[in-house]
Amino acid sequence: MRWFTVLSALAASSAPLVHGASSQAYTWKNVKIGGGGGFVPNIVFNPSQKGLAYARTDIGGAYKLNADDTWTPLLDFADNARWNYWGVDALATDPVDPTRLYLATGMYTNSWDPNNGQILISTDQGKTFTPSVLPFKVGGNMPGRGMGERLAVDPNSNNILFFGARSGNGLWKSTNFGQTWAKVSGLPNVGTYQADPTDTSGYNSDKMGVSFVTFDSTSGSSGKATPRIFVGVATNTSSNLFMSNDAGSTWSALPGTNSSWMAHKGVLSPAEKALYISTSDGSGPYDGVLGAVYKYNITAGTMQDVTPVSGSDLYFGFGGLTVDLQKPGTVMVAALNCWWPDGNVFRTTDGGSTWTRLWDWASYPTMNRYYTYDDSLAPWLGPEGTADSIVTQIGWMMEGLSIDPFDSNHWLYGTGATIYGGHDLLKWDTAHNVTLKSLADGIEETSVQALLSPPVGPTLLSGLLDEEGFVHTDLTKAPSAEFQPSTATGITGLDYAGQNPKTIVRVGNGDATDGKQIAISNDSGNTWALDYGSPDGVSGGKVAISATGDTVLWSSSANGVQVSQYTNPFSVVSSLPAGAAIASDKVVNTVFYAGSGNQFYLSTDGGKTFAKQATLGTSSSVSTVIVHPAITGDVWVSTDKGLFHSTNNGTSFSAVSGVAQAWSLSFGAPKSTGGYPALFAIADIGGVGYFRTDDAGTNWVQVNDAAHGFGSASANVIAGDPRIYGRVYVGTNGRGIFYGDTAGAAPPPTSSASSVSSTSSVHSSTSTTSSVHSSTSTTSSSASHSSSSSSHSSSASSSSASASSTGTLQTGYGQCGGIGWTGPTACVAGFTCTVSNPYYSQCVPS
Ligand SMILES: *[C@@H]1O[C@H](CO)[C@@H](O)[C@H](O)[C@H]1NC(C)=O
Ligand SMILES: *[C@@H]1O[C@H](CO)[C@@H](O)[C@H](O)[C@H]1NC(C)=O
Ligand SMILES: *[C@@H]1O[C@H](CO)[C@@H](O)[C@H](O)[C@H]1NC(C)=O
Ligand SMILES: *[C@@H]1O[C@H](CO)[C@@H](O)[C@H](O)[C@H]1NC(C)=O
Ligand SMILES: *[C@@H]1O[C@H](CO)[C@@H](O)[C@H](O)[C@H]1NC(C)=O
Ligand SMILES: *[C@@H]1O[C@H](CO)[C@@H](O)[C@H](O)[C@H]1NC(C)=O
Repeated sequence: MRWFTVLSALAASSAPLVHGASSQAYTWKNVKIGGGGGFVPNIVFNPSQKGLAYARTDIGGAYKLNADDTWTPLLDFADNARWNYWGVDALATDPVDPTRLYLATGMYTNSWDPNNGQILISTDQGKTFTPSVLPFKVGGNMPGRGMGERLAVDPNSNNILFFGARSGNGLWKSTNFGQTWAKVSGLPNVGTYQADPTDTSGYNSDKMGVSFVTFDSTSGSSGKATPRIFVGVATNTSSNLFMSNDAGSTWSALPGTNSSWMAHKGVLSPAEKALYISTSDGSGPYDGVLGAVYKYNITAGTMQDVTPVSGSDLYFGFGGLTVDLQKPGTVMVAALNCWWPDGNVFRTTDGGSTWTRLWDWASYPTMNRYYTYDDSLAPWLGPEGTADSIVTQIGWMMEGLSIDPFDSNHWLYGTGATIYGGHDLLKWDTAHNVTLKSLADGIEETSVQALLSPPVGPTLLSGLLDEEGFVHTDLTKAPSAEFQPSTATGITGLDYAGQNPKTIVRVGNGDATDGKQIAISNDSGNTWALDYGSPDGVSGGKVAISATGDTVLWSSSANGVQVSQYTNPFSVVSSLPAGAAIASDKVVNTVFYAGSGNQFYLSTDGGKTFAKQATLGTSSSVSTVIVHPAITGDVWVSTDKGLFHSTNNGTSFSAVSGVAQAWSLSFGAPKSTGGYPALFAIADIGGVGYFRTDDAGTNWVQVNDAAHGFGSASANVIAGDPRIYGRVYVGTNGRGIFYGDTAGAAPPPTSSASSVSSTSSVHSSTSTTSSVHSSTSTTSSSASHSSSSSSHSSSASSSSASASSTGTLQTGYGQCGGIGWTGPTACVAGFTCTVSNPYYSQCVPS
């Protein structure tokens, strides 16, 4: 046995503030989007305290349910150093002492996350946590993250916990409330399934590990370790279900299931003395075309197949699984991914002998929907139309499904985009018609890529992965619709024309079938016209629009820098490196700026050609270039080596004293009318934080606090409000958008603006060859985790869900034929269109 100790027992919420700058009190709130916006892998009710429930997310931390159906975030304190706390791979709420809560956190098990995982221990239902650092990584945003729970508290002896690790690390046990952990020997299989063994990034090739741990509470008595424990592991080549009858010392395989299908959930029905198991041939959350539901009779030791559908109706695996603890024999299970025509949920009240569904075919294409749909809390959510006019409402990636143990009418399930549920579930069994409502109020899980607070019009525009973007006119109200028309699966860049500020450009990250990704609005984002000068199948990156709005400059690392005037076809800008940070002048229409490596560039011919200006010290990567809203040539550049300011078009730069590194930058409103605008920066100024300067970089105040860490600094974006002094918007990678307003007086300045000695001049002739320093590698690794985390979060789901309406090639597992089908009939590479039944053909792996 290997034991190790808790490395840090600090209450995580008492993190020290950065000391390099003084701080000013701010109030922070979420900009309300209201519907979640990302994958919710599971929702877990406590079986002993009425109303106590938690939801976990893959990139945005965990939440606690409130009595009014809203949710409270629990991990907002996670800062740049603890960004991986927002990947929650498992949670356990203590059935004996409901004040105790445990979260298994960590984002990736490959190199994208350099840190080991930790069990976050709370004894106050998530108000504060103490981390117990594990000797291995935890993958909250890895494949198979909807399986489980992998973490469980012994219901008879709550000092005992088991945790099923990934990466072949096996099963671990704690006997002291999660403080220290030791490996359990003897589990015959530790879960060696690899979604794609050839993936050299390590993301899809990681061994998926133990999928769930479930105690049989009925096998023991209070105060003693529960003898019977069930464990599922991710393997599809041999037994993947195991049982121990001696509290975890020895294990034997449970017979009778199809071992090609992985066990996602094992849920105990104590009154029936049965374990229900949902399985899928895919690990989830996006895949699976076959699976089964089993019922293990603990007394008899027999396994029964109770799968709700068969034959051509079965073209998905099973994920979310729950029992009604008040009504033995009432069980519900969700199709993990029934991409077409809509997700489905199945319910039995007789222990699996007979099942009813959330929808059925009437006569194609008419569906009997046994629910009333209510998206009033997030009207933008749906329904999403498909080519054959069938709408998608129920969802996909349905791995989390729970009936409230104290209220048979109350149920919740997680999807790739939100939480649905309701308070009249028993009507399923009488009228067979329930209310299906988006109930993710308070969950803000979007991955924010771009923010723009324009000088006129709406308060804010946002660009998000998976949900396109929104015009926010009332920050406290969920928007009614995403940007229209919608051709992208996310928006990565936004900019406004300085002299024509209602003119706004956006760039999306749709795939090859989604068409044009550049669009322009003349009315502050209310309506958009696709830019027919932009090439099909090219997406992502950042955009800048010229001062009067006739020229668009577009930079991405995959497709280089391109420029177009009057919506003519884009042409390559050969004088700039791919992925250069770009900006438009806000006054002179022909002037653009760029930075890359340690080099600054200027264009005075509308972005056609760029000339090298001064260099940026020893920088090796440029993050952001911004330009004074009213002064041509007054530019600020953030790099891996600091913050640089030029007032002469980049002919020379000053390095801002005390700033070691900086990422997103934005101007806000000036402190006094006519003054130099406030400048906001995500930066390392004696520590990584969120800062404001009112005097062009001489004095800085930190604006975030110990309760608002905002996760990964390099992944986030910041926008000052040009109309409200002090107001700043922070877009996070997984916790949506925050806005902050000053709540206390600014501290007095410590340096006078005239003390130019504090800024050191940097000259263009730097002969030092830039070597890769430690801070440089930090930047690039965090840059890769940020982009990858977002792309893995749930973009695949949205593209799969929307592809049929827009493309010529259907995505994997999408529909590609059938009576009445007018969408694509061919599949993307690697998939073949296969007839399931006369009404439905599907793209299945070739
Ligand atoms: C498991 O399911 C697959 C796919 O339907 C089938 O080919 C295989 O024979 C099944 N295996 C067992 C042991 O039933
Ligand atoms: C098991 O999973 C691997 C990897 O996804 C797949 O290639 C293989 O066909 C699966 N085997 C079975 C028996 O389903
Ligand atoms: C389990 O099997 C036993 C013995 O055959 C039987 O009496 C019992 O009803 C079964 N339980 C369930 C829930 O089917
Ligand atoms: C369910 O109830 C709603 C609202 O009364 C109704 O519109 C819908 O047709 C009903 N669905 C079915 C299948 O009866
Ligand atoms: C915006 O206005 C310009 C000039 O009037 C016009 O050419 C262009 O089509 C308009 N674009 C949109 C998206 O309405
Ligand atoms: C910056 O460039 C613009 C455009 O060429 C020019 O009008 C302006 O005078 C320049 N400013 C300085 C300080 O060089």
